[in-house]
Amino acid sequence: MRISIVSEKLPKSGAIVVGVAEGGKLPASAKELDKAAGGALARSLAHARAAGKRGGLLEVTAPGGLGNSRVLLVGLGKPAELTVRNLEDLGGAVVAKLNALGESDATLLGSTFAGGPEVDVAGAHLAFGALLRGYRFDKYRTTEKADAKPSLKKLAVAVEKPAAAKRTYGELEKIAAGVFTTRDIVSEPANIIYPKSFVQEAKKLQKLGVKVEALGEKEMKKLGMGALLGVAQGSRREPQLLIMRWDGLSGKAQGKGKAQGKSKAAQPIALVGKGVTFDSGGISIKPAPGMGDMKWDMGGAGVVLGVMAALAGRKAKVNVIGICGLVENMPDGNAQRPGDIVTSASGQTIEVLNTDAEGRLVLADALWYVQQKHKPSRIVDLATLTGAIMVSLGRDIAGLFANDDSLSEQLIAAGKEVSEPLWRMPMGEDFDRKIDSDAADMKNIGSDRWAGSTIAAQFLERFVEKGTPWAHLDIAGVTWSEKDKPTVPKGATAFGVRLLDRWIKANYEAR
Ligand code: BES
Ligand code: MN
Ligand code: ZN
Repeated sequence: MRISIVSEKLPKSGAIVVGVAEGGKLPASAKELDKAAGGALARSLAHARAAGKRGGLLEVTAPGGLGNSRVLLVGLGKPAELTVRNLEDLGGAVVAKLNALGESDATLLGSTFAGGPEVDVAGAHLAFGALLRGYRFDKYRTTEKADAKPSLKKLAVAVEKPAAAKRTYGELEKIAAGVFTTRDIVSEPANIIYPKSFVQEAKKLQKLGVKVEALGEKEMKKLGMGALLGVAQGSRREPQLLIMRWDGLSGKAQGKGKAQGKSKAAQPIALVGKGVTFDSGGISIKPAPGMGDMKWDMGGAGVVLGVMAALAGRKAKVNVIGICGLVENMPDGNAQRPGDIVTSASGQTIEVLNTDAEGRLVLADALWYVQQKHKPSRIVDLATLTGAIMVSLGRDIAGLFANDDSLSEQLIAAGKEVSEPLWRMPMGEDFDRKIDSDAADMKNIGSDRWAGSTIAAQFLERFVEKGTPWAHLDIAGVTWSEKDKPTVPKGATAFGVRLLDRWIKANYEAR
């Protein structure tokens, strides 16, 4: 699907998309169109149930007097209350509907969506929502019938000030590119995306100016990364530690970074991702039903990759380092056994009582590495870490764990703004004691079955240096969606990309 922003003019063919306020009265800017249609639009609205209700869709097919295939009337609710997020959702809903109707070409009349944000901004966000919803991972569907495929090829968003709308949309397109980078790699099965092929994908960001390097097994051995390597040792796939760097602060801009402060501006923000390209559970093997889902156990790493793509794409004035611990967790004659004790790069020893609690082992060494090597100002890690977070928060909200209140508040605020909600979960010493081990410095599971997501977070915190603000996002519940949402088709969601892009923009970018 191609989306363009054009200047306002009624198209002679294809579909026309018109916004209608609560009550079902046509906006003044659509009166001319209705006249040409012999009043068919107003008559249809008069017979509609709850006409103009936000998100309601009413199609008028081939109205007499017009050469167009149809007019799609889109309910806005109270226009003055429209937010950019509402507009994105409406853009997404329009695309889904036009695809369902079999339409191939449509023009959205931006002026009929007026009332909330400036019309040019509104147009850009309508287009953004449409773009996000139009995503589809279908490269392996070779026999799908043409009439089952999405039909919409072209969507033009017509606005009064196309130049201004294009400027806003230009930046949103870069964020969408980051979202799609994540959705693509998270959707791939584990025979295609494994540690080394993930690194190959990351290298594609070099053309955007991202520096990419990777450590293999030998280098990680030298660094003493026994926790990460223990997880990887049952797999035929060599593990990788992927390091991506976006240095968006030029020498001159350094020291002017808004919230990074003078001396701290050059210190990068670290994003750390769990990249278990397949999680069978290892010797503590998972049950067969649903195991295929564990191809997306690299969702955290996928988000880190997508955020780097978005930041580099829009040339964000900030220094960010993205680290991904990439391993496959498999059972094998050489696999790690329950009861094994490993030594992490930090020197702390870990008794591995359940090989399926592998994400925290991978992150332990990745977190340690980024702190030693890059002295980040703050760290956010993302991981599909625990099934327990889905029990706590369901499939729409991610769990937030942090050692720092202001970092938490910033992240929660950013999540709200982009509809990627976070809920802060508790941490504390009583939880921490539950991972004390009789045999080693700690064990990788708690001593009882309660508060599993917090137990995992406590484990991670033991690898964060005192004084470094750190947040952990448990995205196990939100990385994959079983149902379509307005701007997120079912499948890989890329939850976290828009959130972190917004968080960085709102708090750390030099202007
Ligand atoms: N990758 C899983 C968590 C997960 C489960 C993600 C479902 C997405 C959907 C993780 O490695 C895991 O297996 N966690 C265990 C931890 C337990 C052994 C302490 C879990 O949640 O059961
Ligand atoms: Mn696991
Ligand atoms: Zn896992």
